[in-house]
Formats: sequence, C-alpha cells, structure tokens
Amino acid sequence: MTNTVYVLNGPNLNLLGLREPEIYGRVTLDEIAGMLEDRALELGLAIDMRQTNHEGMLVDWLHEAQAEGARAVLLNAAAYTHTSIALLDAIKAITTPVIEVHLSDPKVREDFRHASYVGMAAAKTVEGHGPDSYRIALEAVASGEV
Ligand code: DQA
Repeated sequence: MTNTVYVLNGPNLNLLGLREPEIYGRVTLDEIAGMLEDRALELGLAIDMRQTNHEGMLVDWLHEAQAEGARAVLLNAAAYTHTSIALLDAIKAITTPVIEVHLSDPKVREDFRHASYVGMAAAKTVEGHGPDSYRIALEAVASGEV
C-alpha cells in the first residue's frame, strides 16, 4: 500500500468559488487542493486530487485507486452521490476505504439530497464543514480511524 490518498471530485465542483457561493463558499477546488497537500505533508501522506463531470470517470478512478494501492479515497461525488448505483457498486467492488465528503450538509437540504448511494458503502461520511470536510476526512485516514 502507498501513502497516497486519492481525492476524487464529481460534477460542477470545478466551478467551486463561483458556484452558488451562499451554499458552497468562495474557496476554489485548487485552493482546497493546496490546503490538503500541505496538511497531507504534515501527516506523512500525499494526495492525488482530481475532478470530473463524468460518472464513469469516477468509477474508473475508484478502480485505479485499488490497482495503484492507494491508502484511501476521499470522494465528493457531488450530485452523483444521490443517483449513482454505479458508484455504490464500485465502492463495494474495491477494498480501498472510501470516505464520503461534502462541503454542505445534504441532510438539511432538499429531500432528494437525503439519500446517498455513496454513503451506503463508504467507511465514513464527513459533511457540512465547508472545505474543512476534506481536511477532517484526511485526518481520519492519518489517524488510522479509516
Ligand atoms: C455536494 C452536495 C451535493 O448534494 C451537491 O449535488 C454537490 C455538492 C457538497 O459538497 O456539498 O454538487 O456534494
């Protein structure tokens, strides 16, 4: 196993900082990547941060995380969280632990965000802490909790 943590981001998260800032804030995905890289260094980990708007790409990257011996995956599948049985199956198909991450807290938003296919198979969920959700998830990996 390597010390690399895959950080996989789904649709519309490339627009973070501009997109609905009243919900998601003004921090960009690049800024989150920078913050996570610094924290990962302190924790003796490395991160591989990616974003795609395509569901199947997330499936491929989950398979890759396993094949490459990633320590864990932090997955913000964005809207696919609430729709994707393919992601549920992919998480179940690999032994690499996956932590579900969200900036907002979907449980206090619209009803259609309350169901999470990702959460059905994830080892842990961190949500509602803005960009800190990613840091908290990374620290759960470093501490051995996940
Ligand atoms: C999100 C929450 C999802 O419901 C939404 O579709 C997103 C972002 C979050 O990080 O808060 O795109 O995953």
